[in-house]
Amino acid sequence: MRVQRMSAPLGAIIDGVDVRRLGEAEFADIRALFQEHQVLALRGQTLTPQEQLAFGQRWGELVRHPYAGMKAYPDLIELKNPGKARDINQHWHSDMTYNRAPPKLTMLYALETPGIGGDTAFANQALAYAELSEGLRRVVDGLRAVHSAEGLAGQYGADPGQAPRAEHPVVRTHDETGQRALYVCRAFTRRFVGWTREESAGLLEYLFQHGARPEFQARHSWRPGDLVLWDNRCLLHFAVHDHGDAPRRIHRLQVAGPAPA
Ligand code: SIN
Repeated sequence: MRVQRMSAPLGAIIDGVDVRRLGEAEFADIRALFQEHQVLALRGQTLTPQEQLAFGQRWGELVRHPYAGMKAYPDLIELKNPGKARDINQHWHSDMTYNRAPPKLTMLYALETPGIGGDTAFANQALAYAELSEGLRRVVDGLRAVHSAEGLAGQYGADPGQAPRAEHPVVRTHDETGQRALYVCRAFTRRFVGWTREESAGLLEYLFQHGARPEFQARHSWRPGDLVLWDNRCLLHFAVHDHGDAPRRIHRLQVAGPAPA
């Protein structure tokens, strides 16, 4: 197994591993690397949907997306290039934060990639939290926020009034590493609990911009056969749509996590 760092703040690229044939000891090594780097890109995999689902289940129970599961494999989402204007993942977010217990991990397997462009960017939110001033850390430490899928519901033709929503601390403590990380995102965080949307907007905007600073980021450039997994408890991610109409086809699954605390 060869491990190469993706960027200074996070991520590792791994060659020489076939995830279909990992014994317990090798899987423990991969888990340790995941905890250390928060994003792993395992190059050169050849997976059927069933094999991706089986590898996902080694990390925990799978979580279904409320709107986007495939007919044949409801625990998988097929991400296809919908065109830049309709790409719903082109913003900084952590997956499904509108759930009471959002997924701890997302796993993407690339079937077809554009050749150039279509990267996924990641931003380390533990670093973002650590880089806030002591004064602002004290403020956000005491806040909770409302997250909602109402915008997403509209994009899938579902009733926004019925969309899932949840309240979470603005700073969460990672249940395995104990690290504190910012936990708000432009896609789903609507306002602070006990504050109006207008009152929340200024500070939320500051946190969204701060969390996406370039020095907290890594980018993954996709090749077919890449299997990328990331930790939603301490990262944001962004699908960079700079590849026009070039095909990009990826299968995604999510693994259950604890309610943020
Ligand atoms: C996602 O936001 O879950 C997908 C990211 C991507 O397609 O790069």
